[in-house]
Amino acid sequence: MSASFHRPIFDKVSLHQDIAKVLVDEVSLRQRVRELGEIINREYAHKDLLLVSVLKGSIIFMADLIRAITIPHEIDFMATSSYGAGVSSSGVVRILKDLNTSIEGRNVIIVEDIIDSGHTLNYLARILQERRPASLRIMTLLDKPERREVDIHVDWVGFSIPNEFVVGYGLDYNEIYRNLPYIGVLKPSVYGAPE
Ligand code: PRP
Repeated sequence: MSASFHRPIFDKVSLHQDIAKVLVDEVSLRQRVRELGEIINREYAHKDLLLVSVLKGSIIFMADLIRAITIPHEIDFMATSSYGAGVSSSGVVRILKDLNTSIEGRNVIIVEDIIDSGHTLNYLARILQERRPASLRIMTLLDKPERREVDIHVDWVGFSIPNEFVVGYGLDYNEIYRNLPYIGVLKPSVYGAPE
């Protein structure tokens, strides 16, 4: 590997060493995702249903959620970008990948990993609503209400969490840590802040 491609992160033996504390453990995640799946089973029984996962952070939640859903449904994906490589939201939302399917007349649930400032979902909900779905609702695994900058209605929240920098279960810092099986608080030293 050439020096220009070397990133110190790859020297680490385990990503767990960068976690200050576990905020939501694996058992709690499994239990809550099962409950959210059961809500969808009840509310969308005998209805057409399309789940829209917002890449990349929601992939683990989406993968577990659809296995907790027992009714027929389809899935699709969108990709947005708001953070770049930093830790705070810029408020600028870009669509990197749009849906493959039309949502006109369909029951749609947007599946997110986290709502922070609210800019991403505010924008996504607006543009998807313009496509005239039969219904459009929002399910997020995590919500950081303290960080909200725009008012949005969220239909289902897995866990409401404090304003701490969290990674794992799909959530990243600089594209790393998504594979941690729990939601953990990153040590401030990792992103250059004092402990
Ligand atoms: C994160 C997260 C949400 C968004 C929430 O995505 O997955 O989509 O930020 O922040 P907001 O409420 O302040 O808009 P990110 O842009 O980091 O991309 P990723 O999912 O690929 O990690």
